Amino acid sequence: MSFKEQLKGRDLLTLADYSKAEIAYLLELATKIKNKRKNGEVYQPLKGKTLGMIFEKSSTRTRVSFEAGIYQLGGTGLFLSSNDIQIGRGEPISDTAKVLSGYLDGIMIRTFSQKDVEDLAENASIPVINGLTDDYHPCQVLADLQTIKEKKGELAGLKLAYIGDGNNMAHSLMIGCAKMGIDVAIAAPNGYQPKAEITEHAKSFADGSEVLITDDPIEAVKDADVIYSDVWASMGQEQEQKLREKAFATYQVNTELFSHAHDEAIFMHCLPAHRGEEVTTEIIDGPQSVVFEEAENRLHAQKALMVALMG
Ligand code: CP
Ligand code: NVA
Repeated sequence: MSFKEQLKGRDLLTLADYSKAEIAYLLELATKIKNKRKNGEVYQPLKGKTLGMIFEKSSTRTRVSFEAGIYQLGGTGLFLSSNDIQIGRGEPISDTAKVLSGYLDGIMIRTFSQKDVEDLAENASIPVINGLTDDYHPCQVLADLQTIKEKKGELAGLKLAYIGDGNNMAHSLMIGCAKMGIDVAIAAPNGYQPKAEITEHAKSFADGSEVLITDDPIEAVKDADVIYSDVWASMGQEQEQKLREKAFATYQVNTELFSHAHDEAIFMHCLPAHRGEEVTTEIIDGPQSVVFEEAENRLHAQKALMVALMG
C-alpha cells in the first residue's frame, strides 16, 4: 500500500500511532508543499472540503495555521469555540462527533483531556486531529521535526535536550524523537517529570537512540544539537504560576546553559514564550534561535497532514 492510501482517513491523536516511515513521508510532503507556496504555485487538492476546528483553550499558531492552511489548500475552516457550541453546555462528545461527521471532512480539536479526543475520534467517521491536549501536541512536533531536518539535515543521530516541565510538549517530543532516531534528554525537576507510562511508551519506539529523563539540565544539554523549552505553567495551570516559577528557577535556558551544548546548537520553543522565565531574551532572540521558522512550519506541516488524511 502507498503512504497516500495508508494515511487517507486516519486520525492523528498522538505520533505514537504513526510509523517512522509515515512520519518521514509527512515531512517530505510538508517540504514539497512549503516549496509550492514559496514558488507562488496554487495547490488546492482539498477544494470543497471543510475542516471544523474545536477550541477549548486559547491559540494563536494552531488556529491561524490550520485556518490559513485549509484555505490555501482550496477548502474552508470553521472556528468552533467550545463556548459557542453545545459541547460547552454538556452535549456528549460522541453525539457531537456523529453530527459533525455529517457536515465536515475533518475535525481538529484542542482541549484538556486526551480521552475526549479519543472519544471524538472513535465516534467520528472523519479524520480527527489533536491540536493539543494536556498530554500531547503532535502537530507541533511534526513542524519541529521539519524544522530540525531543514537546519541539520538528517534527523537520526542528533540529540535534542528539552529543559523544563514534563508536559504535553515533553511527551510528544520524546515520542517523535524516539521514532526518528534522535536522542532525547528531558531535564525536569522531581515532581514535574514526564508521565512514567508515556516515557516507557516513547522508549519502546527508540531504535538505537536514547530517551533520558534527568533532573540535571547540564547533563541533558551536554553535546545537544537542539535545545528546546516551553512555558513552566501550561494552559489550565495558571494558578500554579508562582509555585512553578520557584520549582523551575534553575531550569532556565540561558547563555551559561547553552555553552554546554554543541557550538552549532539551535534553540527551539513551541511558543508562546515567557522571556526571562524559561528562556532569556539573549537566547530566544539570538542568532541560534529558530523559533519563528519553527512557528511558520506549523502551516506547512499541517497542510501536509490535512492533504494526507483528508485528501
Ligand atoms: N505552539 C502552539 O501550539 O501555539 P498556540 O497555542 O498559539 O496555538
Ligand atoms: N505546554 C504548553 C504548550 C502551548 C503550545 C501548553 O499546554 O500551554
